[in-house]
Amino acid sequence: MIELAFSILAADFAHLADEIGRATAGGGTIVHVDVMDGHFVPNITFGPPVVKAIRPVTSLPLDCHLMIENPDEFIPAFAEAGADMVSVQVEACRHLNRTLQLIRDHGMLPGVVINPATPVEMLSEVLSMVHHVLVMSVNPGFGGQKFLPRSVERIAHLRRLRHELGLNYRIEVDGGIAHDTVASVVEAGADMLVAGSAIFQPGKTEENARDFLRVARAAS
Ligand code: DX5
Ligand code: ZN
Repeated sequence: MIELAFSILAADFAHLADEIGRATAGGGTIVHVDVMDGHFVPNITFGPPVVKAIRPVTSLPLDCHLMIENPDEFIPAFAEAGADMVSVQVEACRHLNRTLQLIRDHGMLPGVVINPATPVEMLSEVLSMVHHVLVMSVNPGFGGQKFLPRSVERIAHLRRLRHELGLNYRIEVDGGIAHDTVASVVEAGADMLVAGSAIFQPGKTEENARDFLRVARAAS
């Protein structure tokens, strides 16, 4: 099933509840929360208190993408705040197997995220443990960057591996996904589509979400 995971990084932070409502009205079904610590990535965003604040304003799953060092230290706080899915960057985890298990032990769905310069093979030992693999199609840290076209082949590779290994993880893609790039990633096998700047726009959010999903579903 093709889903839009709208990234609130591009929303108006002073009106987050309304912004989530608009993206949901346009068909978005996952709230993507970009957590940045100023160390793993050169930007700072938000953490568990914001997750806790938005938890009561939506019934959609909260998908927390941790772009942080030492994610293990914060997993309990995200669980307590009401996160449903937590994904960690393979590049930030010294004991990835343990971290993914920790996420599951806290009742959340674990995901692993892979940066553009990291070989897909780095994930081979954990693919059976994850609910989803998140393919970064930009270098993480900022919204509004340009889609890196090699991501298409990386998504297709993960789809082939899923088939060969008899697994059922979902494939999420994040960065530069917009009306002109979404078809290529859907055709390659992505079905959780993160988009921020292509969705949130004053007065156009609901319409943007609807158009985005129309293009994505037509490609599937
Ligand atoms: C980038 C974040 C993305 C970002 C996507 O580090 O992980 O989720 O918000 O933004 P757009 O859709 O504008 O590329
Ligand atoms: Zn993200």
